[in-house]
Amino acid sequence: MAEINFDGRVAVVTGAGGGLGRSHALLLASRGAKVVVNDLGGNRAGEGGGSEMADQVVEEIQANGGEAVANYASVSDLEGAKSIIDDAVEAFGKVDIVINNAGILRDKSFAKLTPEELDLVLKVHLYGTFYVTMAAWPHLREQNYGRVVNTTSGSGLYGNFGQANYSAAKLGITGLTRTLAHEGQKYGINANVIAPVAASRMTDDIMPPKLLEALEPENVSPLVAFLSSEDCTETGRIFSVGGGYVARVAIVEGAGTTFDGAFSPDDVADKWDDIMRVELGEGSAEFTSGVMEQTGKIVQALGISFD
Ligand code: NAI
Repeated sequence: MAEINFDGRVAVVTGAGGGLGRSHALLLASRGAKVVVNDLGGNRAGEGGGSEMADQVVEEIQANGGEAVANYASVSDLEGAKSIIDDAVEAFGKVDIVINNAGILRDKSFAKLTPEELDLVLKVHLYGTFYVTMAAWPHLREQNYGRVVNTTSGSGLYGNFGQANYSAAKLGITGLTRTLAHEGQKYGINANVIAPVAASRMTDDIMPPKLLEALEPENVSPLVAFLSSEDCTETGRIFSVGGGYVARVAIVEGAGTTFDGAFSPDDVADKWDDIMRVELGEGSAEFTSGVMEQTGKIVQALGISFD
């Protein structure tokens, strides 16, 4: 089989100045994509900014013989998001691949969360993903081809203490992706979403060093590149990925139960076991009840021991 390549393709990667985004951009560029490296350049909380982070990644790509341009706009700004796509069209004539990856954290328990911390996180993650994709969409539709890879989180899919703002934004991105998959279908546009686990400045003070060592961002990017390729026909899918472990995550519905005519809360109580039953098919699908369990599955799959 021919190696997956991106010759003639143009990719936009948001938040590509470091961490996962940098790794995605380098991999795509190493396989022939022309890349717009977007990064605002602030800290983990989204404070500050500058051009160095994006510039450095562009230099790395160019030093490896690839083609890239930098963009320093914030995805959470409508005009800024548009400028990322405009830069792709101006520098490379089009856009084929949109990787929405930029993100920040403002963790607080729900009881202490301020409206400002809610707005900021929704703006960067959810609105940022909307704005960049909205700017790209007419181009993708017109050329009848596109690949969108969005970034959710185990926190969004399963919940996590202290991340109400972040988990709501991230599950919003998952909902958006699944609708993009429906609406993009007749235009050759596929949209998928990943829930990564990786060592980055976002996790370097949360996970133990031994785990961080096993979770290089480079172990997430091959999935992102596959989903960005012409070879991949999947759309509307969710994936858990980290350290070389990749699994499809599915939203499933039980067989349910029915009530004849009017029914009471007591009837609901009587049939509670039937309502709650979700039979997982053959194979090894399991319920995951929190982001720690998502990471736990990866630790188990990779055989990491902390003794
Ligand atoms: P990171 O902090 O290294 O990367 C995020 C990048 O986005 C930074 O380079 C930052 O400068 C940039 N950025 C922030 N706000 C921006 C804005 N408004 N406009 C443009 N760029 C902006 O963190 P990491 O881990 O690489 O995160 C990448 C994505 O993966 C994020 O969406 C994050 O929420 C998600 N994620 C990461 C996990 C992990 O284990 N590292 C777990 C689950 C999700």
